[in-house]
Amino acid sequence: MLKPVSSSLRRRNRASEAQMLRTLNTFAVDLMSIPCVEDLFWYVAQNVVGKLGFVDCVIYQADEAQSELKQVAAWGEKNPYGRNIINPLVIPFGSGITGQVALNRHPIIVDDLVGDENYIPDTEPARSEICVPLICGGRVMGVIDSEHPDVEAFGEPELEIFSTVAAMTSAKLELLAETERSQARYKDLVVAHTQLTQETSTRKALEAKLYESRKQEAIGRLTGRFAHEFNNLLTVISGNIDLLTLDTSDAGSLDTLQDAKTASSRGAQLIRDMLAFAQRTRLTPEILDLNGLVSAFGEDCEHSLSRPVERHLANDLWLVTADPAAVENMLLALALNGIEAMPDGGTLKVATENSFHTLPEGQHFPSELLPGRYVKLTVSDQGMGICREQLPQIFDPFFTTKGVGEGTGLGLSMVLGVMRQSGGTIAVQSEVGQGSRFELYFPAAPYGSERSPES
Ligand SMILES: Nc1ncnc2c1ncn2[C@@H]1O[C@H](COP(=O)(O)OP(=O)(O)O)[C@@H](O)[C@H]1O
Ligand SMILES: [Mg+2]
Repeated sequence: MLKPVSSSLRRRNRASEAQMLRTLNTFAVDLMSIPCVEDLFWYVAQNVVGKLGFVDCVIYQADEAQSELKQVAAWGEKNPYGRNIINPLVIPFGSGITGQVALNRHPIIVDDLVGDENYIPDTEPARSEICVPLICGGRVMGVIDSEHPDVEAFGEPELEIFSTVAAMTSAKLELLAETERSQARYKDLVVAHTQLTQETSTRKALEAKLYESRKQEAIGRLTGRFAHEFNNLLTVISGNIDLLTLDTSDAGSLDTLQDAKTASSRGAQLIRDMLAFAQRTRLTPEILDLNGLVSAFGEDCEHSLSRPVERHLANDLWLVTADPAAVENMLLALALNGIEAMPDGGTLKVATENSFHTLPEGQHFPSELLPGRYVKLTVSDQGMGICREQLPQIFDPFFTTKGVGEGTGLGLSMVLGVMRQSGGTIAVQSEVGQGSRFELYFPAAPYGSERSPES
């Protein structure tokens, strides 16, 4: 057992006073790196005994309601279990010496515990006791207590040391509480910021979608009305050309009339594409095997365009319900675009595949597909590709990057219109210099459907 603290401290000379100051200094420096309240209490209890030479040290923490103290750390002969309290004492504010200190917020020194009405005897009865409060932000956070087996073990010097330790501990407690509060505030801020960012990007995406669908709807309505009017005019023009052709025998005039007839047929084709974009084409859907159609198209294409068309046809391809003439039209529009994008040569590929759907993210995607079974028809090239800025515009009617007389800007808008009208859609992936890949998604015909006889 250590010598009685009082006599040793009272007899201290200047050298031991300096030693004590150094110890308190080290104590203050150590406190800085302590990360949590629990470690703090155990460090203080252990070092009050170890470095400051007290026989024991017990720390009690006050509860939130400021009504009870609970033993949280104890060091010395009374606690043989190291950093572990088996059965922590709970003392109401006002009860016993520690409870009095918590209630009145003043230190207490008891010179002789025998006969003291406030003394709550412990497993090892003591004769004198010192107890100081821990006060932080106007609240009692707990008390630090030490007992001694001798009478009158504690005096002014011990009170001074204990009060210094208590003040340092309280300051550290305040710092830890503030750190915890600012960490909580930071976490709240991070959560709020994440929510805000998410909301903003969701709102922006929704706005873009809304804008896109309004634009498509407006252009579609306008194009549809214009195409109908123009179609009527073309019918009159073409009818009159036919009548004139019947009445004319002059070869020169017949040539001129033929040119006029060709021009009006081209006009009629443009009108059909515009109506297709406006989803007002009369489609005649059949149960189709796209593999058969793609094979025949590939052969025709190789013949008429003198370019190889690589075909990748899936086995056991599901049947689809689609208008075969419209599908051929779309394949032709996509193939022509692909070939035009590869002026220096390159391979055009057409592929078929069964596909269960939701589309992968990150694709430019004109409309959403309902989940389900689709047959995917892909037309891809190794051409110049499409830049990021133009990608959202390529389905707009009359959008073209080709010269006057070379492009009408109606190919892709026609494809989009027909695909939507058929309950499917089109998706595109493209990188400048890496080629483009257009995917047509046709809803699969119900299981057990029979192919139409002519397809
Ligand atoms: N395979 C492709 N590779 C590169 N650009 C393409 C491709 N397909 C379409 N485009 C771009 O989309 C635009 C619109 O195509 P489209 O609607 O077919 O009209 P057009 O071919 O008459 O210009 C094209 O002018 C071109 O800029
Ligand atoms: Mg085109």
